[in-house]
Amino acid sequence: MTGETIRRVVCPGSFDPVTNGHLDIIGRVATLFDEVIVGVGKNVGKRALFTAEERIAMIRNVIGEYPNVRVEAIDGLLVDFCVQHGAHAMVKGLRAVSDYEYELTMSQMNHRLSRVETLFVASDPEYSHLSSSLIKEVAGLGGDVSGLVPDHVLAQLTTRLAEHKAKSD
Ligand code: PNS
Repeated sequence: MTGETIRRVVCPGSFDPVTNGHLDIIGRVATLFDEVIVGVGKNVGKRALFTAEERIAMIRNVIGEYPNVRVEAIDGLLVDFCVQHGAHAMVKGLRAVSDYEYELTMSQMNHRLSRVETLFVASDPEYSHLSSSLIKEVAGLGGDVSGLVPDHVLAQLTTRLAEHKAKSD
């Protein structure tokens, strides 16, 4: 690149686990920016089923078709991660107005902290009912979530939930 600005953006989330809705957003963002960094972070309000390493590996397993996408752990503040990686903006997917209310306050706090901008992409209606939490709940109660997460994620999810059930029985 000679004198051109690389348009680099962060797609943050806890991805516990990654869903086909997340992957739809990541794929669409990859067509709009030169580089996409999927930032895998900790949501203090949620107890994770998978370790950060497992969540990162699950995403790396499926983003191979996008040469401009990479996956990294967020260790600390999301805005610090953006600055360290030379990204002036992050992209979040919005499924519903309820998402917007939650995301708006985070975007305002992030902007106040580091002037990093938050851009919103509307989710495909096909995925607007999807969330990692709901997938874990439905799968944990024996419901069929195939087609909502990649096959290798489904296999890991089934195994992890069975391990948890065995421990609690
Ligand atoms: O997919 P999620 O659970 O909505 O993702 C939330 C996440 C991980 C993006 C958010 O919790 C986050 O940014 N964590 C990093 C710590 C941080 O910067 N917290 C302040 C947010 S204003």
